[in-house]
Amino acid sequence: MAVRARVICENAVYGTLGAVAEHGWSVWLETPAGPFLFDTGQGRSILNNARVFGLPLEEARAVLISHHHIDHTGGLLETIHAMRWKSDRATVPVHAHPDLFKESFYESEGTREFIGVPHTRGALETPGARFILEAGWQELAPGVCLSGEVPRRTAFELCDQELRHYDESGNLVVDPVRDDQTVAIDTADGMFVILGCSHAGLINILTYITEQTGASRFHTVMGGTHLGPVSEAQVEQTIAALHDFDIGRIGVSHCTGQKVAARMAREFSDRFFFCSVGTVVEA
Ligand SMILES: [Fe+2]
Ligand SMILES: [Fe+2]
Repeated sequence: MAVRARVICENAVYGTLGAVAEHGWSVWLETPAGPFLFDTGQGRSILNNARVFGLPLEEARAVLISHHHIDHTGGLLETIHAMRWKSDRATVPVHAHPDLFKESFYESEGTREFIGVPHTRGALETPGARFILEAGWQELAPGVCLSGEVPRRTAFELCDQELRHYDESGNLVVDPVRDDQTVAIDTADGMFVILGCSHAGLINILTYITEQTGASRFHTVMGGTHLGPVSEAQVEQTIAALHDFDIGRIGVSHCTGQKVAARMAREFSDRFFFCSVGTVVEA
């Protein structure tokens, strides 16, 4: 299967006049089953950058959401409006986890910031979003899969302690971001994996994709790794465990941070690429 991924929103932009960066993530995916939009950034760059790159967002078969955080869902409202405005479709399917609209926060040094979807479900449905909320693995089109919840198995991939949500008793506790999910596309040269933020842990994610698909090779692994906010020990354990997988290309983004990205560039050498606004990867 021939696949082409283009990063629309990311924390950095280099060499593309007119494109802008923001703390966020969004990728345009062209597959033989048609195009898909994965995540929407915070909302300040997606329409601008899609225009700069000439991407026909309105032609997306569906929007796929990696998890509820604002830096992945904030552009949903503008995107749905643009998709509806430029085509005569009545609704736009949006695939996400049932936790999509939960309240969650970033807490640090006495401050608390809301980081959930910044629009209500109704505000998004009015212009045409049609939510399909599933927690499990799904094959959305032949060879195009959305992971759903990823089992947490490794001992070293710990949750980000600054992310909070309400537990069933109403207490504000560390949020494991159960909804974190990844796109995996089958290609002739291995699985093409597009991560959201990897809150489930990069190794847990690759292990689960291997189990679900039987794939022994990854053509590409690209996206947010969430290795920026974790301990150096966790970074090193993750890098060591990555060597157990056959990965052709690895491109880290977004919540990886520059220090860890530089560390991975040294580690993976020719197989590594920096993954910022405008990056294109083909399989
Ligand atoms: Fe996140
Ligand atoms: Fe993120």
